Amino acid sequence: MAPSRENPFTFLEMLEQHVREHRVSFHVPGHHNGTVIDDTLPSAFAKVMPYDLTELAHLDDLHDASGIIKQAETALGMLYESKSKWLVNGSTVGNWSMLAATVQRGERVYVQRNSHKSVWNAIEWLGLEPILLMPTIERGTGIPTTVTLDTIKQAILEFPGGRAVMLTSPTYYGDMADIRAISDYLSPKDIPLLVDEAHGAHLIHPKLPRRSAIFEGASAVVQSAHKTLPAFTMGAWVHYKEDIDENRLKHALSSFQTSSPSYLIMASLDYARSYLETLTDEAWSSIQKSHAQFVLELKRSGFVVKVGDDFTKVTIMTYPKNGLIFSQHLASIGIDIELAAVDHVLFCLPLREIKKQEIEHWLKLIKKAATHVPIIDDDETIFPFPQSQCVSELHPVKEYARIQRVSFEQAIGLIAAETVIPYPPGIPWILKGEQITEEKVRVLSDWISLGRKLQASKHVMIEQIDVIVEEF
Ligand SMILES: Cc1ncc(COP(=O)(O)O)c(C=O)c1O
Repeated sequence: MAPSRENPFTFLEMLEQHVREHRVSFHVPGHHNGTVIDDTLPSAFAKVMPYDLTELAHLDDLHDASGIIKQAETALGMLYESKSKWLVNGSTVGNWSMLAATVQRGERVYVQRNSHKSVWNAIEWLGLEPILLMPTIERGTGIPTTVTLDTIKQAILEFPGGRAVMLTSPTYYGDMADIRAISDYLSPKDIPLLVDEAHGAHLIHPKLPRRSAIFEGASAVVQSAHKTLPAFTMGAWVHYKEDIDENRLKHALSSFQTSSPSYLIMASLDYARSYLETLTDEAWSSIQKSHAQFVLELKRSGFVVKVGDDFTKVTIMTYPKNGLIFSQHLASIGIDIELAAVDHVLFCLPLREIKKQEIEHWLKLIKKAATHVPIIDDDETIFPFPQSQCVSELHPVKEYARIQRVSFEQAIGLIAAETVIPYPPGIPWILKGEQITEEKVRVLSDWISLGRKLQASKHVMIEQIDVIVEEF
């Protein structure tokens, strides 16, 4: 039976049926339908455990789907007007797989500079040659946004022969590229447009001002259902069109993903799809109205607010007050937020109507947290996105290059042999193969002294970095 509006829980129902039958488990996972537990396991956790199943004959196989998983993926595809596959290793594996399916080792790919680290890691390990596309920096906020069609045209002109364009839209802050114009330009050139839409799974309703790239001509789109829909962490999906080589994509997905996909994650993906499917026009309208009301109330209370094209992302610009300390005050009164930087904080709003009482309550707390936030110190650095040319190459770091560890000061002007990533948002500040500038190390030193979370080698914390000194 195919999942449908009348019967949206087919996958979940199948799991439920299995659990109800109290079957004997002589198979993995080792909790054997939740029977290998003791009293220390919280009861809510124990209740969920039996649903954590495996690829038994009637429960299908993610990597070779022909039963209930295939049906659920078909239903998903109908919603997004595409072919779709579930992912159990986040958008990370989707980005890897889209690139592997379209670009071969040594070939060129045009990539947005403020892409997530999953994109850069894939490019490095797949041996691709990236051409960097600088995003527009938003006036007033200094936040990097999206890549324009002009930048893409320039890249193709200066560095021809690229096999795909890889963009991020919406960005972490909810800004969206003009995907329709870009796909119209790329399509006759047979250059697939791949979009990391980790933050855009909810953008499906036809009346939304901006919709998912999959409705705007993109060739393949990856979405972290777990980021904006009611799905478990790591639950994601990829949508793709005819210009993507399906066999290559499937081969990549089954190579990069676990061979033991979580049935809990998959069940949550099917639920997320059904949640979207059952949202009525009125529900969409109430959600958007309530989000707009929350933003309005924030503004009325004196906050400077940025809302991009995605109505679920709200950035409060805290300058001249310190956003990092604001977020600590928020946490101390029970409000946890998505991201804090020196001059802003980012809230992700839920895809449901926010009740009037909730808005009032949240506002009271937010205002309270804001009262004692200090002014930014002179020596603190606001996140200035590293400026470079509109389009540039990355220096290839060859396997046998001689690498040396030097102080930040000595590194200025040299090529980085490692990547440094502030987290969140997971967008590299210094990329392996990029030239190290004075600005980059100055900002990095400030972050280290401020204790900003960095994903980098230990020696970076003592202001040293690996650089290339000689190539063969
Ligand atoms: C833009 C972007 N792409 C990809 C990812 C990776 O997504 P996932 O955590 O689902 O693997 C993230 C995660 O934060 C992201 O922000």
